[in-house]
Amino acid sequence: MAYQRHCSSDAATQVAGEQFAAVLRAGDVVLLSGQLGAGKTTFVKGVARALGVVERVTSPTFTMVRQHDAHNGQSISVVHHADVYRVESLGEVLDLDLGELVEEAGVALVEWGDLAASVFGREVLTLDFSVDEDDEDSRRIDAGGSIDSQRAFALEIWSAS
Ligand SMILES: Nc1ncnc2c1ncn2[C@@H]1O[C@H](COP(=O)(O)OP(=O)(O)O)[C@@H](O)[C@H]1O
Ligand SMILES: [Mg+2]
Repeated sequence: MAYQRHCSSDAATQVAGEQFAAVLRAGDVVLLSGQLGAGKTTFVKGVARALGVVERVTSPTFTMVRQHDAHNGQSISVVHHADVYRVESLGEVLDLDLGELVEEAGVALVEWGDLAASVFGREVLTLDFSVDEDDEDSRRIDAGGSIDSQRAFALEIWSAS
């Protein structure tokens, strides 16, 4: 079963992110992949908004990771937003300790996470962003990874929205 969404605008990608928040549980690590400008940060803004992050979410390209306090009914109290595009070694990603950090009621969203997938092991969700060659405002998002039955149900709703 493949889960995907088509987003025809920047705003639609944010809504896809907002609705993806319902798929998440504390402890989740989500690896986002796709070329520069594919919409990863735009999507994370939507996720963060839906999880009750109040502060502004911007690209963590230079800081590598940012923590945002979250307030929601999903027992997720912190959103770790990382971007590992500029890391020079997997050791640097290991040092971020994201797998550990999410255990304390957090979730982690890692842009370019595919570059460091081996650090996170198998228990991750993946989101693949692709740009439509013929329409510069259109994006496709493919969700995959470690999907149990509860999550499969949530992802079906997400992909049908
Ligand atoms: N459907 C779309 N979804 C997301 N971004 C879009 C879309 N159409 C155009 N854009 C533009 O593409 C860029 C996406 O940037 P960003 O989310 O920072 O990408 P990434 O984090 O993958 O590098 C933004 O300038 C945004 O306005
Ligand atoms: Mg980005």
